[in-house]
Amino acid sequence: MPSISTRGNNAHTSPIRKLSPFADAAKKAGKKVYHLNIGQPDILTPAHAIQRVRETDIHILAYSPSNGYSPYRQKLPNYYQKYGIEVVPDDILVTNGASEGIYFAMLACLDRGQTVLATEPLYANYVGFAEMADVQIKPVTTYLSDAFALPSVEDFARAITPDVKAILLCNPNNPTGAVYSEKMLRELAELALERDIYLMIDEVYREFCYGDTPFFSALNLPGMEQHVVVFDSISKRYSACGARVGAVVTRNRDMLTTINKYAETRLSPPTYGQLLAEALIETEDAYFTAVKEEYQHRRDVLYRRLSQMEGVRCYCPDGAFYVFAELPIDHCEHFCRWLLEDFSLDNQTVMLAPGNGFYASPDKGLREVRFAYVLNTNDLNAAMDCLEAALTAYRNVMGTARNESGNVPETTSIA
Ligand SMILES: Cc1ncc(COP(=O)(O)O)c(C=O)c1O
Repeated sequence: MPSISTRGNNAHTSPIRKLSPFADAAKKAGKKVYHLNIGQPDILTPAHAIQRVRETDIHILAYSPSNGYSPYRQKLPNYYQKYGIEVVPDDILVTNGASEGIYFAMLACLDRGQTVLATEPLYANYVGFAEMADVQIKPVTTYLSDAFALPSVEDFARAITPDVKAILLCNPNNPTGAVYSEKMLRELAELALERDIYLMIDEVYREFCYGDTPFFSALNLPGMEQHVVVFDSISKRYSACGARVGAVVTRNRDMLTTINKYAETRLSPPTYGQLLAEALIETEDAYFTAVKEEYQHRRDVLYRRLSQMEGVRCYCPDGAFYVFAELPIDHCEHFCRWLLEDFSLDNQTVMLAPGNGFYASPDKGLREVRFAYVLNTNDLNAAMDCLEAALTAYRNVMGTARNESGNVPETTSIA
């Protein structure tokens, strides 16, 4: 049999989906599994937009232009204006989700072997995109004890070696929920300008800020026209993850022209998805107000429940829809798999994302997990009942195993 490439063999699996076979097996065995592992909201996509797609009278489902369907690109600046962002359609290239935009920007801005600085814990797929683009991720670590605040500009400055070509940030942050202030972003922009490196900002959670720090877009950083690129998406904004529509937004025309070469190679973003996205631009502010209130309520419930559990360390995040917490466990992958394979409370269990997969540094986050508060509060409370009981039961499992062999149980190891 011909061999698989070394690159393919070395590719990471997503910590968010890695345990899915165990969740499938649990469900097959009749267990109810609460999915707090993935940022797939249960919020309804605005009905008017789905209806618009339904009514579209299409006889040939054609390719769209590589940089996106023109009526959609023409309308997008209206959406950005709500955030005081002045862009024109030519600053926007429509992608297959933010995912593709991040990958294309890495391809366009970095040579093989060059480095992107990124805060960790990080959105795990950044590591995957970097692998695909053959570039390195150099982590700048943020800490739970500090509510995952952005490291100082001096920390970033120290990390900028000659191979570093870009700083990649997610604001509001997945997986930590941290929101970065205008002041911090301005300081970082100054550094990026001084070192002449790109500032790549993933703003897919722009709508979801609950705390005192207002959202500030990197597209509003003055003097950064050639250095800033923003990744955007309709996935979270309108609960439309399956539409696969995102965008790269930058005023750097060379970058966009280069990204367009990759866009032409993959032909076009999805036509139906863009028709949906075009209709979604008309979504009323009341939708966002209600959705934001709902997420804030869920965050409060999740934070309160976690704070009441013995040995759990967490903080109240300001944005996105995640909590990254430390649990009284000794290995997050073991624990998350054990939850699916060996634990149930009234035939129910919870699926979480192991924290170590959100670090580019090895051996970090072993006691941490990510919670996505994407389920309604009834389900969230039921999931927390499971977790509370599970943590008690797992303490005994860990204790027994340690007494016998000094190690965690064999059944909980993951290849
Ligand atoms: C921070 C972040 N960026 C990008 C993405 C991917 O977005 P899309 O569905 O638009 O590809 C996600 C999805 O969870 C995300 O959390």
